[in-house]
Amino acid sequence: MVDSAEFNRRGGGFRALSADFIQVLERVLAKGTIKRKVLVKLTSIKNNDLLLQNIDPDETFPTSYQELEAVAKEKMSTGAFGYVQSGAGGEETLVKNESSFSKYAIVPRFLNDVSALDTSIRLFGRTYKTPLMIAPVGMQKIAHEDGDIATAKAAAKFGMPFIQSTVSSYSIEEIAEATGDSPKWFQVYWTSQNDEISFSMVKRAEDAGYEAIVLTVDTVMLGWREEDVRNQYSPLMQGFGKANYETDPVFQSTLPANDFDSVIQAIVDNVYHPQLDWAKVAELKKRTSLPVLLKGILHPEDAKLAVANGIDGIIVSNHGGRQLDGVISSIDALPVIAEAVDGAIPILFDSGIRRGSDIVKAIALGADAVCIGRPFVYGLAAGGQKGVEQVLENLYQEMSVTLSLSGVTNLKDIRELVILD
Ligand SMILES: Cc1cc2nc3c(=O)[nH]c(=O)nc-3n(C[C@H](O)[C@H](O)[C@H](O)COP(=O)(O)O)c2cc1C
Repeated sequence: MVDSAEFNRRGGGFRALSADFIQVLERVLAKGTIKRKVLVKLTSIKNNDLLLQNIDPDETFPTSYQELEAVAKEKMSTGAFGYVQSGAGGEETLVKNESSFSKYAIVPRFLNDVSALDTSIRLFGRTYKTPLMIAPVGMQKIAHEDGDIATAKAAAKFGMPFIQSTVSSYSIEEIAEATGDSPKWFQVYWTSQNDEISFSMVKRAEDAGYEAIVLTVDTVMLGWREEDVRNQYSPLMQGFGKANYETDPVFQSTLPANDFDSVIQAIVDNVYHPQLDWAKVAELKKRTSLPVLLKGILHPEDAKLAVANGIDGIIVSNHGGRQLDGVISSIDALPVIAEAVDGAIPILFDSGIRRGSDIVKAIALGADAVCIGRPFVYGLAAGGQKGVEQVLENLYQEMSVTLSLSGVTNLKDIRELVILD
């Protein structure tokens, strides 16, 4: 038994203690002096503390974002990992997205009863147990063979909305079939050659039971990504993002021939769509009965225009620093936009969320919910569906502990937290 004085002397926190303790136990077990049931007894202790529930001698999954990234690097090809990890240009924005969070500090309140925590949110008529959702990430098969299906199933397990990318590795219908009636949204990259292809995909999503449409506005062309040039790597050209196109009847009808090269050429022609403007957004709004969100809003005037144009929600995002480099970090853009929107429509947030306290800060600064990006992709690479589940679980648990230790018991009260800039 290690008493608390001994624990404090070791000073390495619970994980360090746990690792030490287990090493000793394993040495003893190897000598056969005690039986394995000692370990079983250790893990069968029940308690309400989220941290202690996570001290598990059998746990080998990476804990921090940095550890997760290192495991993903081992598992993925150089090109695929570089594609996920890197940012545009000199990666100024990629770096700032993470570091800017530390400019904001929670000022906790104590002596509130925090024994009951409610993390639920209401969005577009649905109640979700958590404010987390899965950001649209294309071509997930580069991380794991099960790709988007594994991620969508993991999201379904927690009742979190899964936002499917236009350039997903599995089609709308395949993901719908694999996940039943769990909440799913569809992200649109406009199709430049023929607007009807976009409308057809939106209709397919609607028919398959998807509940919202996310139009990404920051990717009218690909950002300048040096790592991909260095590695001569494009998953789009390799066909990892063709599932929704090759199954689309309108897209099919535009093809000169139905072979791999013709499909890829047509996708490449279509994803470049510099002509996207507010008129097309208005047309999209007319063509669907689902809520429409704009993803990639960074300027308060664009946020106000979204409200004026009857848009149902926005996602404050800089695409994880993958599009425009030298751009404001997403978390710095958020409070100004929240002020401009003034509660008129929901504000979602992504880019740079790496741990639970980032989620709390984003909500405190005006987000209604946050989208998880790279962390889940690394979880997928590390362990498929189970890996994504573990990442989501860890983020959720750290968020919950952060909330309780900040003295708040529900997400509305987060706004009362003083966040120092
Ligand atoms: C590998 C990868 C692929 C992505 N694909 C898409 C996509 O298809 N559509 C989209 O709107 N955003 C896409 N994004 C951006 C994410 O939706 C999200 O904005 C971003 O990952 C947030 O930044 P973070 O990962 O640093 O948290 C992608 C991001 C990554 C890392």
